[in-house]
Amino acid sequence: MTFESEMRRKLDEIRHQPTVRILSLETSCDETAAAIVENGRVIRANVVFSQIDLHALYGGVVPEIASRAHVEACDRVIDEALRAADMTFDDIDALAVTCGPGLVGALLTGVSCMKGLSYALRKPLIPVNHIEGHVSANYLTSPALEPPFLCLVVSGGHSHLVNVTDYGTYHLLGQTTDDAAGEAFDKAARVLGLPYPGGPRIDALAEEGDPHALPLPHPHAEGRYDYSFSGMKTAFLNAANKLEMQGKELPKADMAASFRWAVVSSLVDKAMLAARETHAPALALAGGVSANRLLRRMMQEKCEAAGLPLYMPRLDLCTDNGAMIGSAAYWRLLKGEIAPLTLNAQPALRLV
Ligand code: KG4
Ligand code: ZN
Repeated sequence: MTFESEMRRKLDEIRHQPTVRILSLETSCDETAAAIVENGRVIRANVVFSQIDLHALYGGVVPEIASRAHVEACDRVIDEALRAADMTFDDIDALAVTCGPGLVGALLTGVSCMKGLSYALRKPLIPVNHIEGHVSANYLTSPALEPPFLCLVVSGGHSHLVNVTDYGTYHLLGQTTDDAAGEAFDKAARVLGLPYPGGPRIDALAEEGDPHALPLPHPHAEGRYDYSFSGMKTAFLNAANKLEMQGKELPKADMAASFRWAVVSSLVDKAMLAARETHAPALALAGGVSANRLLRRMMQEKCEAAGLPLYMPRLDLCTDNGAMIGSAAYWRLLKGEIAPLTLNAQPALRLV
């Protein structure tokens, strides 16, 4: 019997178990993370090793440094997850790994590690799309949430409005035509001289500022549900340059608050428009930017007023983690999807 048919046979058995335990690994960017998740809903362990300190010196993620750090940390986070759950490999039914999108070298370290583990332990490996992982963080936070729902996915690399019609089935309604929301926050933070990663820094600083101090253009994107952040980013940069040329000190809190307000109100407006026009039964947020305080507050207000149920990941599940990958993997496993030993990193993998 080939390894693949052996894995397929095992998967058929696992699918019928009442409890399926998945050990997952996430290495797509600058977090090495491992988790153990039961039935896509219950976190038994969630260990995140952040590389932020390694990259902060350079003002952003250095891909080569990220790959090396992942190689060193993979084994440790997996061991730590098993220890935290008081389990051994014998308690694990299947493995999962992020195969894309992300940095190719970073992804490859995780994919290679889990392929090796799958072969050695004779346990099926499920490949997971990182963005699907972000969406699935909602299943961990809200056990009652089931598709269909509308999801606003806002991370460092993506700004998507998708219709989640079933577990693992997505229809694209809109997306950014230029920068992702997180990317825009990170770039604006750099203009203010804030350290990497900028999104959470802008968010914190903005709490003390006036959101209407600096008027920024409301973006015009082509599609009805599309986003665009480059116009407001350029206007923000020009305003900062002008103040600097005049020898004035940057009113950082006001600028942060104004930028945050411009990005967030655009995200909220389009999401609410799509929810209304597509008669969405519920709205969910996903991705690193869903940790943004103003986004959470504004969404809560608007959804409450519209009588629309709102789901948001727990704060520690908004940014990259292994549990979200273990959750997404469960529904892929139920559909019989397993990785061949030829599984490769897919840096440009799309959700839809
Ligand atoms: O989802 P994520 O951890 O990684 C990607 O898949 O990209 O998202 C990271 C992004 C970064 O751009 C970071 O600045 C942004 O999410 N971010 C935030 C906040 N927390 C993280 N942006 C705005 N406000 C926050 N509180
Ligand atoms: Zn992410």
